Formats: sequence, structure tokens, C-alpha cells
Amino acid sequence: MGATGVLGAAGLVGVAVPFIQSMEPSAAVKAAGAAIDVDISKLEPGQLLTVSWRGRPIWILRRTRSQLKTLEDPGLIKRLRDPQSREPQQFSNVVVNTWRSIKPEHLVLVGICTHLGCVPTYRPDIAPPDLGPHWLGGFFCPCHGSRYDLAGRVYKDVPAPLNLPVPPYHYVSSTIIRVGEAEGGKETNWSPIAW
Ligand code: FES
Repeated sequence: MGATGVLGAAGLVGVAVPFIQSMEPSAAVKAAGAAIDVDISKLEPGQLLTVSWRGRPIWILRRTRSQLKTLEDPGLIKRLRDPQSREPQQFSNVVVNTWRSIKPEHLVLVGICTHLGCVPTYRPDIAPPDLGPHWLGGFFCPCHGSRYDLAGRVYKDVPAPLNLPVPPYHYVSSTIIRVGEAEGGKETNWSPIAW
């Protein structure tokens, strides 16, 4: 299946929680589950871009250096349920690493909580009052309080059982990510345990 472009990213809002809502592909393309090409050229460090693929929100987060550093924090790692990504919640071993991504900078995730399917909130702020002094940034699900770090790795002692899925993707160029297929057109039918 051919990929459809999502090239009109627009609508930058906010400073505390940078976020871009992109143009969406056509309904026919979404229904078919075709891969989509996402232009990441305007994504600033710390910003989150949301697109839609197979009717699900897909996040692309351009992580800052300091955000990447948090992923190696021993205090964080001991609070995670599956810090080594042992459960098959990612499409390939190419993203089984500290960052859960092909390039450390860009995180690609399905933005659906693995508990009961709510959409978590991007919370890049450090130690906010509502999330506590140990919070280093991540994703917080408002429905029942599940927490994920900035690689989508789930915390222990929350309702969600699994890390957020990393869907198939690859780089078409340095500024275009194709979501929905791995390098060479592979993994187009991949599904995680939960999403
Ligand atoms: S749906 Fe996210 S914590 Fe329940």
C-alpha cells in the first residue's frame, strides 16, 4: 500500500506543553490502514506531534537532550515495570533500547493507554505538584492514573500493564517518517499485545 502524506503540520500552541495537531489523511486512507508519511521538519525539541493511523493517535515526540538523559536515571528505571522492553510492545528489535526508538531523538508511539484505552496527556514538566517529586516528564493517563516515562515505558504499581506500543515506522528521509511500515515495507500487519 502506498503511503499518504501528512505534510501540513500546523497549530503550535502553548509553551509549557508544546503540541502540534497535524492535518489528517483522508477517511479512506485511514480505513485502509495505509502507512502515512509525516513531515517532522518543523518539530522543535520537546514538541509532540499527533497524527492518526488506523484510527489511533500516533505521537511523534522530538526529545531534548535533557529528556533523553532522564531515560537512564536509575531512580526512574527501578520504578518501571518493563524497562528493557521485554514484552513485545514494539514492532522490532531495532527499537529495543533505552530510547525505544530508531534515532534517540524521535519517539514514535501509539498514544493509547494500555489499561482501558484512554489517551494519556504529555507532561514534560519536572516534579509538578500533582505528579510528585520523582516525576521526570512523561505521559500521564487521567482516567485511572497510569504513568509512562518519555519512552512510553509504564511505571510499576499503576493499572496499565504494558508499555505504550511503538508502531512500525522508518525514516524515508531525515525529515519524513513513514508510520505503518518498517524498512523495506515490512511489518504492515504488526499488532502489539495491547493498544
Ligand atoms: S485507561 Fe489509562 S489508566 Fe485506565
